[in-house]
Amino acid sequence: MTETAAAVKRGGSKMAIIGAGSVGSAIAFACLMRSVVSELLIDDYDKKICEGQVLDLQDAAFVSSTKIRVGTPKECGQADIIVITAGARQRPGETRDELVHRNEEILSSVLSGLQPINPHAILVLVANPVNILTCMAQKLSGLPSHQVIGTGTVLDSVRFRVAMKDLLHVSETSVHGYIVGDHGDKQVAVWSSATIGGKPLLSFEEVKVLDLSKEAEKVARKAYTIIDLKGATSFGIAAVVSELALCITLNKLSVMPISTYCERFQACLSFPVSLGANGVERIIYPDMNAKEIAMVEASAEATRQACHNYM
Ligand code: LAC
Repeated sequence: MTETAAAVKRGGSKMAIIGAGSVGSAIAFACLMRSVVSELLIDDYDKKICEGQVLDLQDAAFVSSTKIRVGTPKECGQADIIVITAGARQRPGETRDELVHRNEEILSSVLSGLQPINPHAILVLVANPVNILTCMAQKLSGLPSHQVIGTGTVLDSVRFRVAMKDLLHVSETSVHGYIVGDHGDKQVAVWSSATIGGKPLLSFEEVKVLDLSKEAEKVARKAYTIIDLKGATSFGIAAVVSELALCITLNKLSVMPISTYCERFQACLSFPVSLGANGVERIIYPDMNAKEIAMVEASAEATRQACHNYM
């Protein structure tokens, strides 16, 4: 798609958010503030909450060029970008994987309500466990798999980059490092090929003295800390979804680590991809050492087992 065509697409594009809880409404707010699309629809099985959120968000829309309203499931199914946040959320101490059965059921009913889905839509899964739900939606939505993505480890990679920013005093946007694989306890920090300014991260004196597993563990535990303190995470993931949506509407082809089907590991996992108007344009596997590959293999195996019904 040319830049002009992409700009036109942004101007006329419609996003739907399914789920008006703390995550869905924070995503709506972030997308509204950044005028990511021209129209935003929200749907939730709880119509009262949904209407309340929309009325409140409409009060914020005066700083935006996006119009926001309640949408029916059928209208939402016709959007250009469909974001699914509906699902049970982690209780303090609960893992993302423990949500799987509750959220599979919810996803299956959401997807049938959206049918027939716009064949050009990009479906973005946010609910957890995100790799498994992405795999399920790739099978059940009827869309080509490159159009069905999950938020994956974008947020984990942001958390990693911010930790390096605090340590090394360089902007997080200049830290080229990825968390890959699982958006959960099995996530893998790819230290071996991370760089800043063309210099390997592992060659910085401040990094040489770190206990790398402990640092990676802190990144992986950040969501648990937030959930213990305030019950849920919402703003980080909202910023992530607004960025993914901009990439899609502007056909930016930015490289972001999101959940997608990875042929190399025969599973839906989070790896850097270039993301544009057609969804995933290409997957880029960062160079990984043997230990990192073994860790990714372990999470691929767990994901394959959990997804065997949809393979
Ligand atoms: C988090 C949620 C999105 O990591 O899983 O904040």
